[in-house]
Amino acid sequence: MRTTTMNQLQSVLANWDDPLAVAIPPLLTTPAQSPVTPAPVDPSAEMPIPEEALKPVNPDDKRVINGLTDINQLAPFKYPWAWEFFLNANKNHWTPLDINMSQDVHDYHHKLTLEERHVYENVLAYLTTSDILAMRNIGLAVMEKMSAPELQIYQARQVYEESLHTWTYQHCIETIGLDQSEIYNRYRVVPAIYRKIKMGNERLNSILTTDIDLRNRDDLERFVMAYVFFAAVFEGCWFYNGFSPIFALQRRGLMKGTGEQLQYIMRDEVMHCAFGLRVVRQILQEENITLDPKALAQMWQEAEAAEEGYAQYLLKEPILGYSAQDHIEQFRFIANRRAKQLKVAEPFPGATNALPWLDEQASMRKEKNFFETRVTEYQTGASLQW
Ligand SMILES: [Fe+2]
Ligand SMILES: [Fe+2]
Repeated sequence: MRTTTMNQLQSVLANWDDPLAVAIPPLLTTPAQSPVTPAPVDPSAEMPIPEEALKPVNPDDKRVINGLTDINQLAPFKYPWAWEFFLNANKNHWTPLDINMSQDVHDYHHKLTLEERHVYENVLAYLTTSDILAMRNIGLAVMEKMSAPELQIYQARQVYEESLHTWTYQHCIETIGLDQSEIYNRYRVVPAIYRKIKMGNERLNSILTTDIDLRNRDDLERFVMAYVFFAAVFEGCWFYNGFSPIFALQRRGLMKGTGEQLQYIMRDEVMHCAFGLRVVRQILQEENITLDPKALAQMWQEAEAAEEGYAQYLLKEPILGYSAQDHIEQFRFIANRRAKQLKVAEPFPGATNALPWLDEQASMRKEKNFFETRVTEYQTGASLQW
């Protein structure tokens, strides 16, 4: 047996970061063996294929969950809308490096008040933890339960987008020069942030179990409610509304780079929410189940209470043009919109549109980038369908 010399090992370790710099010698070698000749294959012998497997896939047999059709066959589609979501999502391409953040660095250190810095930091602290949760939810707990590939393909794109969002927050945190350990641990030490994350974690953990069986009605109900929570509350309200304090700064000409980053993210999140609610409606129809109004009411109440606590913490003192009252009223208004998309009763009848500019902020149109004087066009393809 040949042993690796000390010199060889030192050479490997010295060049460890550069795998091309040195050919790594084998640490152990096995004694030479005489080659094994495989048995000849008889080309006339037929592999037994079950009769069922030879039938072509009928798209009508596809189901969102609990389907038995071949998951590896994309088309014909049963859910063409899912494919449209995927095509639309691919019109939205950017990376956080595309956006100039230099003015944000100056704004944060020289223009923001203490209250505005508090808002900025905590919005990022909340969002960055949330996006990891959103990625784990769709990628680990939801996608594997889908039984039609066109649904999984959009969700695969969604997983990528959530990680892109996490990169974006990290880019902002790093560029501004915030203390990363402090920012990333904030959700663990600030109760108002922890509470929202905990609600997401509990929903995720309730369906991230190996023994979940969606043919069982209780398990199915738990899965559907978790999907509703993530699409309607977590992404549809807490993200949608969660960006607005920074948009309020952006509207005053402050932290415009961060604001633009969040506009890109917001467009993705609107689609994640719409897709999720569409999938839920399809499951309800196919599995012949209805959402429990009591469970929905409880979900909205808990979401509202958590959002109220978060808003009070975030905006102990209102900043110019934005208050905790604005934030929570807008949450209720958007919650009603999500309920309508889901075709269920509005949880907060009479809630008003406290931030009428928010929808406009979401639909970023072609405009001049203030700092780079380049045309920023969110879509890379033809018109984006909402
Ligand atoms: Fe996200
Ligand atoms: Fe999302």
